[in-house]
Amino acid sequence: MFEEMIYVLKGRGATTVWPEGGKKQTFEWQERSFFSIPLNAWHQHFNGQGGETVRFIGYTNAPMAFNLYHSYDFVFNNSYQFTDRYRGEEDYFSGKGVAVPEKRVWDASFIADIEKLQFHDWTRKGPGATNVELEFCHNMISAHITRSPVGAYKKAHRHGQGADILVLEGKGYSLMWLEGTKMERYDWGTGYMFSPPHMWFHQHFNTAKEPLKMLAFKPFGQKYRVGDYEKLFVSTAAGGHLIEFEEEDPKVRQMFEEEIKKDGIPLNMPPVKYRR
Ligand SMILES: [Fe+2]
Repeated sequence: MFEEMIYVLKGRGATTVWPEGGKKQTFEWQERSFFSIPLNAWHQHFNGQGGETVRFIGYTNAPMAFNLYHSYDFVFNNSYQFTDRYRGEEDYFSGKGVAVPEKRVWDASFIADIEKLQFHDWTRKGPGATNVELEFCHNMISAHITRSPVGAYKKAHRHGQGADILVLEGKGYSLMWLEGTKMERYDWGTGYMFSPPHMWFHQHFNTAKEPLKMLAFKPFGQKYRVGDYEKLFVSTAAGGHLIEFEEEDPKVRQMFEEEIKKDGIPLNMPPVKYRR
């Protein structure tokens, strides 16, 4: 009785899924596959290699389900079928999906390889940024992948807890802080995972000579909204949760410029006139 998204880090294998009393269906996955188990559907994972370990990340909203019902029996021994989400359709895991470009969304159940996804303009967040929002299986939880160019960074923003970020490819650091407190810096590289705390501002910086790729798992999406999703893209000056470059502490850009200068990377940011 909780949603789950699975991202495959290593190896290959297959998953069998079926609705209670229904026909089983199996699909195969490998490194960089991304899929979801429809809510409360039966499922079983198989490692497809003889001597190799499979490694994947399962992102769930299980903590919320347990907090809400505080019943192991209800959460795990529950036969209710969400037929509005999944009825064992033959092509459910075929890789088909629906694109909603104006929301930068790819809505699917199974993605064979995230490298083949179509990315959209996401310069609202920063110069040269592109992104794709991933909605799976009519879930509340969702994900996104963002690419940031060399020598540039995106604006800081904040939201509730539960977003987990995986650095798919890259090197850099994040600044995170609660309004009115000191900014903390966290350095990372490929394969690092971290989670910005509840309502802490967070801002990620690519210091590598290659574009940065980040995958974020989120307890909220655009399809079935909870909380103040719209405020994510409204500037703090207008009561939202996004810090425009003009509103940011000048030290932020200064630190980034100093960092990339060490490797001879030029700053690729528009000039800014600070309001503070
Ligand atoms: Fe965020």
